[in-house]
Amino acid sequence: MASAWRDTYEAWQRDPQGFWAEAAREIDWIEPPRRIFDPDAGVYGHWFPDAVCNTCYNAVDRHVRTGRGAQPAVIYDSPVTGAKRVYTFAQLLEETATLAAVLQDLGVGKGDRVILYMPMVPEALFGMLACARIGAVHSVVFGGFAPKELAARMDDAAPKLILTASCGIEPGRVIAYKPLLDQAMDLARMKPAAALVMQRPQALAAMTQGRDHDWAQCVDAAKAAGRRAPCVPLAATDPLYILYTSGTTGVPKGVVRDNGGHMVALKWSMKHFYDINPGEVFWAASDLGWAVGHSYIAYAPLLHGCACLVFEGKPVGTPDPGTFWRVIEEHNVAALFTAPTAFRAIKKEDPAGEYLKKYKLKSLRTLFLAGERADSDTVQWAERMLGVPVIDHWWQTETGWCIAGNPAGLGVLPVKYGSATVPMPGYHLRILDEAGRELPAGTMGSIAIKLPMPPGSLPTLWGNDARMASSYLTEFPGYYATADAGYIDGEGYIFVMGRTDDIINVAGHRLSTGGMEEVLSGHPDVAECAVVGAADALKGEVPLGFIVLKSGVARAHAEIEKEIVALVREKIGPVAAFKTAVTVARLPKTRSGKILRGTMKKIADKTEWAMPATVDDPAIFTEISAALKARGL
Ligand code: COA
Ligand code: AMP
Repeated sequence: MASAWRDTYEAWQRDPQGFWAEAAREIDWIEPPRRIFDPDAGVYGHWFPDAVCNTCYNAVDRHVRTGRGAQPAVIYDSPVTGAKRVYTFAQLLEETATLAAVLQDLGVGKGDRVILYMPMVPEALFGMLACARIGAVHSVVFGGFAPKELAARMDDAAPKLILTASCGIEPGRVIAYKPLLDQAMDLARMKPAAALVMQRPQALAAMTQGRDHDWAQCVDAAKAAGRRAPCVPLAATDPLYILYTSGTTGVPKGVVRDNGGHMVALKWSMKHFYDINPGEVFWAASDLGWAVGHSYIAYAPLLHGCACLVFEGKPVGTPDPGTFWRVIEEHNVAALFTAPTAFRAIKKEDPAGEYLKKYKLKSLRTLFLAGERADSDTVQWAERMLGVPVIDHWWQTETGWCIAGNPAGLGVLPVKYGSATVPMPGYHLRILDEAGRELPAGTMGSIAIKLPMPPGSLPTLWGNDARMASSYLTEFPGYYATADAGYIDGEGYIFVMGRTDDIINVAGHRLSTGGMEEVLSGHPDVAECAVVGAADALKGEVPLGFIVLKSGVARAHAEIEKEIVALVREKIGPVAAFKTAVTVARLPKTRSGKILRGTMKKIADKTEWAMPATVDDPAIFTEISAALKARGL
């Protein structure tokens, strides 16, 4: 089948508002949009400025009303606990509406913020939808973040309530969440007055009198009383959620998602990009704490009338590298979406695909990869093993859905390995040089998106229009700066090569090296430091810290380095995967004093590097190489 991508993209280019007006017909509005885009509202404009809607209604209630009540909506599969449960749309409605009533009892109303700090259990999804139902703004914090990070998010979002569980389960260890929550509460200035705590048998939490409420008891009581909260009418431009992501400093950016544009974009993507039909099972093997989890574990499949999968496990070790194949077979998964790192992990443990032979993956039509650059080796291995199209697509927390990819729904285009293929409607991509001039095909530069951003993309950062403008919109006036570098070839294919800022990508998780440097420099013996993302065969990149000690520090370097590793785990969390700090005598700098992190990274990666013309003292690079070599790196 010839791909309809070009015709579709050109139709959008000819009439962007007409295109999104048509896509908006797929949503059940309380008041449909009369205006499609208001360029004068907000930082760069607002989509569907006069429409009224409710996201939970579209994700849940409307499917019950249109006869999908008995169809699976949420499949929970937890190899770490052995639990498996299926909730139909009717049951999902009951769980969500009841929990929403409990939230109201705890004083949560429209516009209030609710933080979720939860493992991968269906209750986390119910919590998100319950907030959406009553117009509360949820903010999910990934369980691998430390109390300090949780506290930073509390301070920015000023939540009324936190939804949490007594523990999360990582392979081989149970992580008690309650002590982490208590520490965060001690650290935060804007702490929530109440916590709703889901007790899990693997580690019961001691409840704090007057603050903590037992999740099951509250929900059971509300169910017994037959209480259900109705969907609250919201402006399409009202915030649905805030999702914090790494910024260039330790202070995370609160990416805001609205209700209307978000629904329109995600619904469009399910059919036209992912080639999924209502009633099918869509599995995003990510975590609800990430943007992929928000959009493609939770909202998009449900908006489209699909079953979503909440998987509490890992691609390997829970219990083996055949877990993904078991889940696909057992639950008839039509499309799997994960990060390349998950496939690298499986490939490493089962290169010949022995575990694959035990399962029949008849239901699987497509594999989608995103979150980091997909290396051709892994893509081709997955193609060989699964025998289905493997689609790399590029997106960011900020956009909430894919900027560029190979659209399975419109018909796949010829694959070019290493390329995320072509832009989706809504995204007008340009490659710019430092002065904002457009670069010719094949030339590497900054990837920028011509404003306005499409529906679904962030309208702003939480409570901080100025940071939204300074972070994304001032570098190239009229454009959103993606902070990714790359090029577009003569056929319009985009190649996304890496970040232009201090963000690194560790196992598909986005982390700020600047944030880590703030932690390292907080150690009393450290005078100076630099963190770079070193290439890693499994995780893509891992952070590597260099420290210069204060003069007169006579303690063993190994001891200090161990403390540094523990400090990053304590302040940022295990998700940072910071395992190596190396003591050096000096850091290489330019004559104006800027640390030459790029060259240090190349040395660590053992790739070719050239002596920067501006370096103050070239001998320092030899010292860096020697220090790494001495550590076997
Ligand atoms: N709560 C608490 N700790 C967590 C956690 C959570 N929700 N998630 C991860 N961690 C911990 C891990 O246990 C690990 O701790 P350790 O240093 O004691 O081993 C650390 O954080 C780093 O985690 P991770 O980077 O995930 O590494 P891993 O070795 O546990 O697993 C992969 C590696 C590749 C299997 C895993 O990263 C993965 O499945 N990635 C798939 C895709 C994905 O989730 N992408 C996200 C965006 S699409
Ligand atoms: P996150 O906000 O966590 O989704 O991370 C977004 C960043 O991950 C992007 O800015 C890219 O640097 C990187 N990224 C995501 N998907 C891809 C991809 N398909 N190819 C290359 N880089 C990607």
